[in-house]
Amino acid sequence: MTEGTTSLYKESDIQIRIGEDSFILHKGESIFDLLLRQERIFLSFCGGKGKCGRCRIRFLQGIVYPSSADRIFLTAEEIRRGVRLACTARPTGVCRIELLLEEKKESKIISGYQLDEWKTKGENENWPKNVIAVDIGTTTLAMQLIDTSSGEILAQFCRMNPQRSYGPDVISRIEADTRGEGERLNRLILREVEAGIKEMLLQLQEQTVVIAIAGNTTMQHLFLGFSTRSLGEYPFQPLDLSKKEFELCGIPTVFLPGISAFVGADIVAGIYALRMCQASKEKKATLLIDLGTNGEMAIGNGDKLLVCATAAGPAFEGRGADSLEGTDRIKLIATLLEEGILDASGLLADPYFEKGYPYKNTVITQEDVRAIQMAKAAICAGIKILMREYPLRPDEIDQVYLAGGFGYYLDTQKAARIGLIPDELCEKSKAVGNTSLMGAYLYGRNPGAATEVEALVALAEPINLAEQPGFEQIYLESLDF
Ligand code: FES
Repeated sequence: MTEGTTSLYKESDIQIRIGEDSFILHKGESIFDLLLRQERIFLSFCGGKGKCGRCRIRFLQGIVYPSSADRIFLTAEEIRRGVRLACTARPTGVCRIELLLEEKKESKIISGYQLDEWKTKGENENWPKNVIAVDIGTTTLAMQLIDTSSGEILAQFCRMNPQRSYGPDVISRIEADTRGEGERLNRLILREVEAGIKEMLLQLQEQTVVIAIAGNTTMQHLFLGFSTRSLGEYPFQPLDLSKKEFELCGIPTVFLPGISAFVGADIVAGIYALRMCQASKEKKATLLIDLGTNGEMAIGNGDKLLVCATAAGPAFEGRGADSLEGTDRIKLIATLLEEGILDASGLLADPYFEKGYPYKNTVITQEDVRAIQMAKAAICAGIKILMREYPLRPDEIDQVYLAGGFGYYLDTQKAARIGLIPDELCEKSKAVGNTSLMGAYLYGRNPGAATEVEALVALAEPINLAEQPGFEQIYLESLDF
């Protein structure tokens, strides 16, 4: 038996066999709960709520009745063969199952950024020889080992954030932490980061290396082992956002500071990488939009800096391995609009309204379109509020940077077409990729970065969009494509 000794078992416990291993399922638990507990995680996208259809298993013995979620996500043939969703399967007797979902831990390298523009070559005796830059995203963990004298990327490590089995967004992680899963969430990400570091260290001999980590506030709290409870309830206060220095795998490590519950070290790293606060008084403002799971934004220059986050959700990131990448979704929606298959209010024409529009090897449904519509309205309304509060006219904005996992590949014309960014700013928009990773690298490389970054954190004024007068109205006006 894999778990404990027989004396710990209750009568109501059920024996489950997965391959050669035997586990105990406690009363009321689903197979998904068991897999989470055993950290045999797989990448669900709904966190075990029966809404994504990803947690497939097959009963080889002791089959359970199909649930309503099974009937939605599985074909009659699959159900007949014993396939079920783990999160709705609650066996009442001994059973044997196999896991069907491959553990797609490896994620596409979506960490590209325009390093050439920023990288400074040449030895500097104050710089460490190498930096391991880490960006802990809600969806993706991206790491790079960079030689500071050449700017060359020596190794990359990019994985799905293993916490994703608890759900796709920060709210699901905060809920899991509040339910008492904090230690496991912490262990999952820590283990993955350490695995990345160990893999990268194989590339180095006796050279100096430092680690610099950025990530949103929830990721930072979970990584550092802080409770996230206060991030999930009003007044949404972080426990501690100051810079943290410690050792990981025996290497000096720094976690960059953050600004607020909603604007974390990842945005701080982005602002630093883009040198937004180095602008002089004469220089116009720049706008940074991070199209990650949370849609954070920053606008300003060295004199004034406003920051905010929107509830964009993971709409731009796709639902999983078979679904479209965010860039493709935006392109497809722009094309459907141009071809009249989608109207400005976001309705798919018949016959696609019911069954969705087939594209590549997947289908974009009315629900997907709605999710994108709400996400882009939230971003667009956020930009408008920031410009109003600053206040700034479009001509006073010098450049708009679109960052995030897929920011680098984003077609800014298409993004403007769907109304993600106001038309007036389209010409000034530039996709810059993962600026959080970029900022972490620069922070690790430059010994002077700490002072500069502390100053920009002090300068930043967080804006709570939901509390801004007229936000609702602007959001509703931004919904149409
Ligand atoms: S359906 Fe999403 S985890 Fe089971």
